[in-house]
Amino acid sequence: MTTTDIAATDVAIEVKGLSKSFEGREVVHDLSMRVKRGSIYGFLGPNGSGKTTTIRMLCGLLTPDSGEGTCLGYDIRRDADKIKRHVGYMTQRFSLYQDLSVRENLEFVARLYGVADARTAAREMIKRLGLSGREEQLAGQLSGGWKQRLALGACTLPNPQLLLLDEPTAGVDPKARREFWNEIHDLAGEGLTVLVSTHYMDEAERCHEIAYIAYGHLLARGTVEDVIAGSKLATWVVTGDGLNALAHQLTGKPGVDMVAPFGTSLHVSGRDHDALEASIAPFRSDPKQHWQHGAPSLEDVFIELMSRSKDNFQ
Ligand SMILES: Nc1ncnc2c1ncn2[C@@H]1O[C@H](COP(=O)(O)OP(=O)(O)OP(=O)(O)O)[C@@H](O)[C@H]1O
Ligand SMILES: [Mg+2]
Repeated sequence: MTTTDIAATDVAIEVKGLSKSFEGREVVHDLSMRVKRGSIYGFLGPNGSGKTTTIRMLCGLLTPDSGEGTCLGYDIRRDADKIKRHVGYMTQRFSLYQDLSVRENLEFVARLYGVADARTAAREMIKRLGLSGREEQLAGQLSGGWKQRLALGACTLPNPQLLLLDEPTAGVDPKARREFWNEIHDLAGEGLTVLVSTHYMDEAERCHEIAYIAYGHLLARGTVEDVIAGSKLATWVVTGDGLNALAHQLTGKPGVDMVAPFGTSLHVSGRDHDALEASIAPFRSDPKQHWQHGAPSLEDVFIELMSRSKDNFQ
């Protein structure tokens, strides 16, 4: 494929049937996905479910045992070197050189990647990040949120076409996470494709598309609306007194797949709507509580998917 062909296609990543085992244990199973250029694609799933392993296979850092595909038009098995030139990868728990200043970190990265005028590129990035005036501050002294933004800046300095961000905002406060995500949206608006893994639901909701992976299996994908609709979950929202006792009474009843407290309400969900209705019927006449139909939240859907997959795969 020539560069023009690549630019012409609207697909950044397309892989089919990726599998990977470590020490005889399969940690990614038959995974297929497609990511559109210029989109923000979220990767969600419990710890140890294969998100990082998948990200590493997508950019050619790790060879799959089976499966195939392309990243930015390049073959993930044969063209790893070419892929790496166009990818910015912020690894999990990524941190910059703590004892170098903001400016030194950016200039170092720019030189490492052969950016033509490293000093100017670093200066422009500092401005873009809103770090003017803090150029000489050591990276290690920045707040967690600023560290992550600086790391994002460093990843984008070499002008990649694809950003792989592996839990970039873990442990960062909500305001800083929001700012980080505003920057991700700006980058996507400029044409960059972003694949990002996260455990935060609010971040999942800011993605154009998401994929949910559990125990190596991709269980759901699409827009947030697609994933919620595809779950076929019926959800009841209960408010009032005695919710804790109610939760215990409902757990394990036929049709009740999930009972989860959300602040001052209780979410009761299930996929078999008739069985769910039958099980909750005796409780709905209790005047202490008020029941109403609710839309399942993304978190409801993920918790349900996770509990189901645990039974299936373990
Ligand atoms: N190089 C390796 N050698 C052996 N096992 C590995 C290796 N890399 C990953 N694993 C195992 O593969 C499984 C999937 O790991 P992976 O890091 O991809 O999960 P993850 O979804 O990124 O989890 P987390 O949310 O905790 O980051 C885990 O059980 C992990 O211990
Ligand atoms: Mg990981």
